[in-house]
Amino acid sequence: MRFSFPETVQIGSATLIRADSLFDVLAALVPGSIGGVLTDPPYSSGGLHAGDRIRAPSQKYQSSEYRHLQAEFVGDNRDQRSFLAWSGLWMHRARLGMRPGAILGAFTDWRQLPVTTDALQTAGLVWRGIVPWDKTEAVRPQLGRYRNQAEFLVWGTNGHRASVGRIAPGAYRASVPRAKLHMAAKPVSLMRDLLAIIDGPVLDPFMGSSPIGEACAELGLPYLGVEADPRHFDTACRRLEAFAERGAAA
Ligand SMILES: C[S@@+](CC[C@H](N)C(=O)[O-])C[C@H]1O[C@@H](n2cnc3c(N)ncnc32)[C@H](O)[C@@H]1O
Repeated sequence: MRFSFPETVQIGSATLIRADSLFDVLAALVPGSIGGVLTDPPYSSGGLHAGDRIRAPSQKYQSSEYRHLQAEFVGDNRDQRSFLAWSGLWMHRARLGMRPGAILGAFTDWRQLPVTTDALQTAGLVWRGIVPWDKTEAVRPQLGRYRNQAEFLVWGTNGHRASVGRIAPGAYRASVPRAKLHMAAKPVSLMRDLLAIIDGPVLDPFMGSSPIGEACAELGLPYLGVEADPRHFDTACRRLEAFAERGAAA
């Protein structure tokens, strides 16, 4: 894949682009060039009402003792209707770049689960299921409530998918990384496990610190990661460069 964005970095078989994925990158995808999509978009969650959702991500997702440890991130302030419209748009554009039968998986939380499944179908993908990610008992307990211990991968395919290949588990258990490179950091091991049935090149339009890029590098899968925020883009570049150096030294 070739792109001419001002900030495009090549690290091994990973291409990292600093840009808005929906408006800049997805429209430039060559149809049928993407083997699979795995991504962790901003959830625009963290409250019942529009007023709650437009607060900074650290106010919504972190308890006070952890605030200011990581940079804020962009794109997390949509109300329910605009989140549905935006999600349907990016998934639709991603689908046009995907091969027939390719998988698209997008993370979400319990509040945005219904609207994310709506968006996936709006985009013309075939909705195939929901894969729970159990974050373990390490997440914050809440008195008198069920612990919010799970997030979800909503997944579908670009049309018919042949019934061949590996069988992947329907649920995963992995704790949130202790040393967080991003406020919404996800474990590399989880991404590696999820990629077991996803082909490359893998598109990740909301890469953050790019645990998916690191998992792709481990598995030898070509990766295309996009991040709008320069601080998180730099973190992702440093992470994949460090991984490449470790590989070269081994
Ligand atoms: C939930 S975070 C991903 C965190 C990632 N899983 C990690 O472990 O570091 C979503 C990321 O998407 C980025 N983002 C939001 N809207 C975007 C857009 N339109 N184009 C590109 N990146 C965007 C945010 O800045 C944020 O870093």
